Amino acid sequence: MPHISEAVGYQSPDKPVGWNTRDLLLYAVGLGAKREDLSLVFDLIVADKKWAPFPTYPVVLGLKGDSQDINIFSDAVKPSGAPPPGVPQFNPNRVVHGSQSIEILKSLPKESGDGWKLTSRVVGVHENKSGIIVEQESTLIDKNGVVYARLFGSSFNLGAKTTGEKFSKVIAGPPKGKPVPKGRKPDYVTEDKITPEQAILYRLSGDYNPLHIDPRIGQAAGFGGVILHGLCTFGFVARSIVITVGNNDPNSLVYYGVRFTSPVKPGDSIQTSIWEVGPGPNGTTELAFETKNLTTGKVVLGSGVAYVKKQQGAKL
Ligand SMILES: *[C@@H]1O[C@H](CO)[C@@H](O)[C@H](O)[C@H]1NC(C)=O
Ligand SMILES: *[C@@H]1O[C@H](CO)[C@@H](O)[C@H](O)[C@H]1NC(C)=O
Ligand SMILES: *[C@@H]1O[C@H](CO)[C@@H](O)[C@H](O)[C@H]1NC(C)=O
Repeated sequence: MPHISEAVGYQSPDKPVGWNTRDLLLYAVGLGAKREDLSLVFDLIVADKKWAPFPTYPVVLGLKGDSQDINIFSDAVKPSGAPPPGVPQFNPNRVVHGSQSIEILKSLPKESGDGWKLTSRVVGVHENKSGIIVEQESTLIDKNGVVYARLFGSSFNLGAKTTGEKFSKVIAGPPKGKPVPKGRKPDYVTEDKITPEQAILYRLSGDYNPLHIDPRIGQAAGFGGVILHGLCTFGFVARSIVITVGNNDPNSLVYYGVRFTSPVKPGDSIQTSIWEVGPGPNGTTELAFETKNLTTGKVVLGSGVAYVKKQQGAKL
């Protein structure tokens, strides 16, 4: 078996992806969009509210691919080729999403048409006592080679067999955000009640992992029942940032990234505290944020960073 260092830089086979307008609307509803959020859920232009695809949509495409039907989760997570060189086979039941970010370079069309793909490469590998962390960069590209979004995600593969050398190497990664300011009240606080039905809706965007619908699997995995998709919480909070800071304009979000620190269950209430921490690139405002389980106070999303275009004279 090759050494794990050979995994860094490994490019996996491209994945064909595609979506239609219904997929985009379903995704917005999967993120808890409400009937008032017409700019997210109504595909016609109404008064001054212009509908646009919700900008974090590309994060679902890795599992959805270009299919218009449900998939078998264990097939969807299989890499389309061999695993990266030097990386052992992972137990799919013991893979945890560690972090995710998305840089939005262009807003998505209402439907993809043919020829879109995700290209992915391994940009970092780290070993520790409990397993192996793999960081991956993916880009969403249309049929003419135009890049629409750049994603970085890390997965923590619990129990994976390591070399014992605590190997660690990284060649690329998302922008580093500023930490949440200590001793300063947040500029915005949002709350969301996640309904008990949220996971059964969100999964229709392409992540059919039974952990999110079958309580027996959640019990066996030690979660005491089903847990919400991490990327659903990710999207919920992106939506509340777009609403509170971006004046409900889906195109206001330019960059968004989080670490997943603990699970959320369908039915939980979450609270997000958001600080403006200075100018971001290209005339954006940089935000630092964190999300907690409202009742327990436990942080569920940490190290949150966003770059948002705030409109002149926008009302808060
Ligand atoms: C290994 O890394 C993961 C992911 O960053 C972290 O959650 C875990 O606590 C680490 N374990 C040890 C033993 O350092
Ligand atoms: C969030 O808090 C509620 C209320 O205390 C609790 O029932 C729930 O289990 C917590 N969620 C998680 C995932 O721990
Ligand atoms: C700023 O905008 C330019 C032009 O659109 C783009 O190429 C560049 O990546 C942006 N910079 C950041 C940090 O987003």
